[in-house]
Amino acid sequence: HTKVKDLLNSTKPIDGISVKGWVRTFRNNQFLALNDGSIIHNIQCVIDFENTPAETLKRITTGAAVAINGNLVESKGSGQQFEIQVTQLEILGDSDPEKYPIQPKKHSLEFLRENAHLRVRTNSFGAIMRVRSVLSFAVHHYFQDRGFVYVNTPIITGSDAEGAGEMFHVTSLPIGNPPKTEEGNVDYKEDFFGKETNLTVSGQLEAETFAMALGQVYTFGPTFRAENSNTSRHLAEFWMIEPEVAFNDLDANMDLAEDFIKYVIRYALEKCPEDLTFLNQRLKDEEKNKPMAERSEMSLLEKLRFVLENNFKRVSYTEAIDILKNCKPNKKKKFNYIIEEWGADLQSEHERYLVEKHFNSPVILFDYPADIKAFYMRLNDDNKTVRAMDILFPGIGEIVGGSQREERLDVLQQKMAELGVDEEELKWYLDTRRFGSAVHSGFGLGFERLVLFVTGMGNIRDVIPFPRTPQNADF
Ligand code: 4AD
Ligand code: MG
Repeated sequence: HTKVKDLLNSTKPIDGISVKGWVRTFRNNQFLALNDGSIIHNIQCVIDFENTPAETLKRITTGAAVAINGNLVESKGSGQQFEIQVTQLEILGDSDPEKYPIQPKKHSLEFLRENAHLRVRTNSFGAIMRVRSVLSFAVHHYFQDRGFVYVNTPIITGSDAEGAGEMFHVTSLPIGNPPKTEEGNVDYKEDFFGKETNLTVSGQLEAETFAMALGQVYTFGPTFRAENSNTSRHLAEFWMIEPEVAFNDLDANMDLAEDFIKYVIRYALEKCPEDLTFLNQRLKDEEKNKPMAERSEMSLLEKLRFVLENNFKRVSYTEAIDILKNCKPNKKKKFNYIIEEWGADLQSEHERYLVEKHFNSPVILFDYPADIKAFYMRLNDDNKTVRAMDILFPGIGEIVGGSQREERLDVLQQKMAELGVDEEELKWYLDTRRFGSAVHSGFGLGFERLVLFVTGMGNIRDVIPFPRTPQNADF
């Protein structure tokens, strides 16, 4: 059978085609809108109802799977160039209209989240998931074309790469009767066949060891954070892309990140015109329900093009603090939190002010205070800032976190001691500094935050097939 996408892109009528897909709507016992997932659009199939048994017509319901034979003919009424004149129709799988949850009407995103296994049958989620797929291909394309080696870093690990203590335990303990400590608590030290292990929070440390042999590497895999945060930007399980490059300093790291992000966005614009046009309109319709002051000035497609056409603003943390100190609170625009001290971590409110109000552009913030960043970042000569960078995006906040790494063994060891990071546990990591150490840098891009930006969706739960959050881990 032929894909609907190919039929809709046909340049001429075709006799004797067959398609398979699912019924979206069926009107007047005659017009069947068929979708097969290959493209956002349905193809109109015109049924010869006078010569079709009433029994069959009754079974053409929303959600039913059908196989259709017919001819692709010029359409007069469907708003598309072609439609299918049906000669034969077979119901492959019925869908009881009394019970099928995805009716042809607008469902709330909350309702659809509870039906994650069926929501992909809607226009919006079909489009989002196709864009997500294309973006992940673009990630590989970008790095493979430039000679990066794809590394699969472990999911189960003994180390906490970020040192933030936000890890899920992995256990091989028997369910029901786990070994106990003398105090009677579950003995987690016995977790993974005698060792305490966790789900990875980042593949960075392992990627660094590979970069120090293969030069340029990247990971792209699932990552886990046991933070009990219920925001529209956090998941307990998300996908992260982490390139790591030997001999790159922080400036080269920024160049790489900016070039990479622009590449994948451009790629999606090229490969997903129908889906992005649909999502663009979806967002426009949604904005109409908002009060004037909250509406965004740019459409989704305009935002994407804006990012491609402008340089990200590169601003040091210290400059950003000065800007924030001098900004006037604006109750109406909801920016009323003014930062007081150099050294404070930026709240999302501050990030939004910088990106959406002050610079009106994606921003790369760099040289953060050492005290608010991870142990592995390169200490600057001022002894108080590190060569860190965060990329902040309009409507998203932090999309990338990265740094130049501390390549000096003694400085790194001292930092680890200060923070209580166990040297014995990271012996393998320190070997990269013991043998042939060199300047190197990398970053992590949260894949779902990228998909959020490109699709214009507002909640991270809506851009991953089966979201894992404190509320959603059912199936
Ligand atoms: O800033 P993070 O924690 O940095 C790292 O993990 C570094 N090891 C990366 C590196 O240098 N190789 O996370 C990186 C990015 C964030 O900027 C954000 O986009 C995303 O990962 N992220 C999350 N996305 C969804 N849900 C969460 N809970 C996330 N936590 C981080
Ligand atoms: Mg971060």
